[in-house]
Amino acid sequence: MVGAGGREHALVRALQASPARPRVLCAPGNAGIAADAACFPVAADDVAGLTALAQRERVEFVVVGPEVPLSLGLGDRLRAAGLPVYGPNADGARLEASKIFTKQLLLKHRIPTAGAAFFDAVGPALEYLAQKPVPIVIKADGLAAGKGVVVAQTRAEAEAAVREMIDGGRFGASGKQILVEDCLFGEETSILVVVSGRDYVILPTSQDHKRIGDGDTGPNTGGMGTYSPAEVVTPELLGRIDREIVRPSVDAIAAEGIDYRGTLFIGIMLTPSGPSVIEYNARFGDPETQVVLPRIADDLLALLWRAARGELAGATLRTKPDYALCVVVAAKGYPDAFPKGDPIELPAELPAGVAIFHAGTARNAAGELVMNGGRVLGVTALAPTLQAAADRAYAACDAIRCRSKYYRRDIGAKQLRRGQ
Ligand code: AMP
Ligand code: GLY
Repeated sequence: MVGAGGREHALVRALQASPARPRVLCAPGNAGIAADAACFPVAADDVAGLTALAQRERVEFVVVGPEVPLSLGLGDRLRAAGLPVYGPNADGARLEASKIFTKQLLLKHRIPTAGAAFFDAVGPALEYLAQKPVPIVIKADGLAAGKGVVVAQTRAEAEAAVREMIDGGRFGASGKQILVEDCLFGEETSILVVVSGRDYVILPTSQDHKRIGDGDTGPNTGGMGTYSPAEVVTPELLGRIDREIVRPSVDAIAAEGIDYRGTLFIGIMLTPSGPSVIEYNARFGDPETQVVLPRIADDLLALLWRAARGELAGATLRTKPDYALCVVVAAKGYPDAFPKGDPIELPAELPAGVAIFHAGTARNAAGELVMNGGRVLGVTALAPTLQAAADRAYAACDAIRCRSKYYRRDIGAKQLRRGQ
């Protein structure tokens, strides 16, 4: 397992649960993963180091968590060394690493998505903006850890974002080229698809909470909490998403000559006129994974192995009827500056159905568990109702002792208000 976040911790747990009883190794991991798997201090973006580690440890199968190593070609390198990999090669990872590449693919293959124009100079971008209504969306082309998107409510805000990205170097090389995209309105859902060439299996639906504050206020983050299933995606709507978006996306990627073996994460806006693609990610979502995997009743290792080997045809998936809800415990100040090193005390015992997945955690010199990142923990609860899952997750969050912990109080609230 490659990665160090809550997503990777949830993956390690799910892989460990396989009847194949695998020995799971992780690089680099975090303090929580270290309790479940042997961790090796090789950074997730050290492609050569990870390849050497896999060979030295005689690893038989590699699952890659984050997008950065995928876009740097870790999949290509490992495959060239003869190792089965779950995670696309660099050509597939471009679907996440370049929003312009993806937009062109979506438009070419007539997959529903917002209209957009591309710019690498401020002047023409401002001229274009002058004739567009607000809100309008400004996106850095390249990877920006989930932060390269500004949904501008005013033209002044849009112009400032354009200037900062292209001239101000706000996202480095990632922001030298930008998209100016029409704003979509509606509710979002995350559709995670296990893809192997033209074969695929859709995982349980989920909904993320991207903004830092309650009521979806404040800046965008990597994700502050999730729940599954997202019941706004009715079975009929899921059928439509499959027909209009998933099948065409998988076919388009294959038609472009990409042999995609890994998770295709499709961010979808449920607009009044139908589902529309916001983005692709070339990996599992974080924190979607922390609610999606606990609801899968089948052997995840077998599923990912089949996808990696090109043997996914005919695969099906059983899910549990339970609801899952994950609250992300972040460091106060995230997504801007936040403290590191504050001790964390976890409850000695967790109630049934509750799991704590570590993200930004480490051990200090004294061996204490400390904060080491913006998103620190993901607290997932599984229960027969969404309300019960929320109650359990929040009880566990409240029981975590940490001076600078912060979490949203309203994860799942939209679905709870609608009544499940
Ligand atoms: P992304 O990094 O592409 O996932 O974008 C981050 C977030 O920005 C998305 O989850 C949406 O909430 C928002 N967003 C992106 N594109 C649009 C759009 N065209 N219209 C409205 N919101 C958007
Ligand atoms: N939670 C959204 C993402 O992983 O990109």
